[in-house]
Amino acid sequence: MKILGISAGTKNGSNDAMCKEALMGAQELGAEIEFIRVLDLDIKHCTGCVGCVMSLMSGRGNMCVLKDDFQWLLDKMLDADGIVVSAPIFEKGTAGIIRTITDRFGPRMDRGNNIIATKIAEATGGTAPDPRILKDKVISFMGVGGSDWGTRVQCDHAMLALTPMWKVIDNEKFQWSKKIIVEDEKIAIAHQIGKNIAEAAKDFEQAEYKGETGVCPHCHSRNFYLSNDSTHAICCLCGIEGDIVIKDGKTSFEFPEEQLGHAHDTLPGKFIHGDDIKRNEGELMEIKKTQDYKDRVDKYKQFIQPTMPQR
Ligand SMILES: Cc1cc2nc3c(=O)[nH]c(=O)nc-3n(C[C@H](O)[C@H](O)[C@H](O)COP(=O)(O)O)c2cc1C
Repeated sequence: MKILGISAGTKNGSNDAMCKEALMGAQELGAEIEFIRVLDLDIKHCTGCVGCVMSLMSGRGNMCVLKDDFQWLLDKMLDADGIVVSAPIFEKGTAGIIRTITDRFGPRMDRGNNIIATKIAEATGGTAPDPRILKDKVISFMGVGGSDWGTRVQCDHAMLALTPMWKVIDNEKFQWSKKIIVEDEKIAIAHQIGKNIAEAAKDFEQAEYKGETGVCPHCHSRNFYLSNDSTHAICCLCGIEGDIVIKDGKTSFEFPEEQLGHAHDTLPGKFIHGDDIKRNEGELMEIKKTQDYKDRVDKYKQFIQPTMPQR
């Protein structure tokens, strides 16, 4: 059983330490461990070219046009049975590098897209996506911050797992934690998170979320998009729509059962989203052929060119 630790922090900093502590816990339970610091890698931002979706949906496999270390990192993640990520909290959310990895996962790692692409490749005799993408996997997150700013970090982290439908085991955040290396209680939590991920990786079917209970009973998120003229709310993570209810001084989120079929972390929800994207991309492809579209693009192209630094 392989557990991969990923730190998004500075060399030998708090996140390296927390990640390594979790790996120590996992190793105690017999895991083979590996450690990667993502800032050592060349990971480019997703440009939104949608080349990955085009290749998936035309039976040409799962690829990205960017040439950097991302594929190497992805291979490591796909080979692991469980992953522990420790990332600094930046501007209340996760570090930009983790957001970039989430974007690079985007449509390319979406489980729904990969199931459909596998069927397309089988039907056309094309190239199927890497089968490791459809393998069940467990993942845990730790966000480490130096102050009380951290209200988006757990939502950001769970978003990384949502695309491939990896099961989240722990999703912890540590505030006021610049000195975390000498804070034994927090170190002990990291150690336990490592043990939890190793246990979960051993038995995926029995593995369960071990983090704190959130407000969304489906995905444990605490982040919601609120309406200002009703109790209507949308869970920022799983996309379920329902109502914020206050009972006995406690906040809860209630939604009709049928909403589960739309949740962004379920296969039916992913297929609905996939159909939406396919329709929109199709409409765009048609409209791009029109003279009106070409004239409008030309108008903006001619209007001004981007200013670039002197190199
Ligand atoms: C650009 C930047 C933004 C930060 N924003 C936050 C923040 O919003 N909330 C917080 O708690 N800490 C914030 N911090 C503190 C970092 O989370 C902290 O320095 C980091 O966990 C150290 O990790 P490392 O030792 O692994 O590099 C920020 C630090 C930097 C450099």
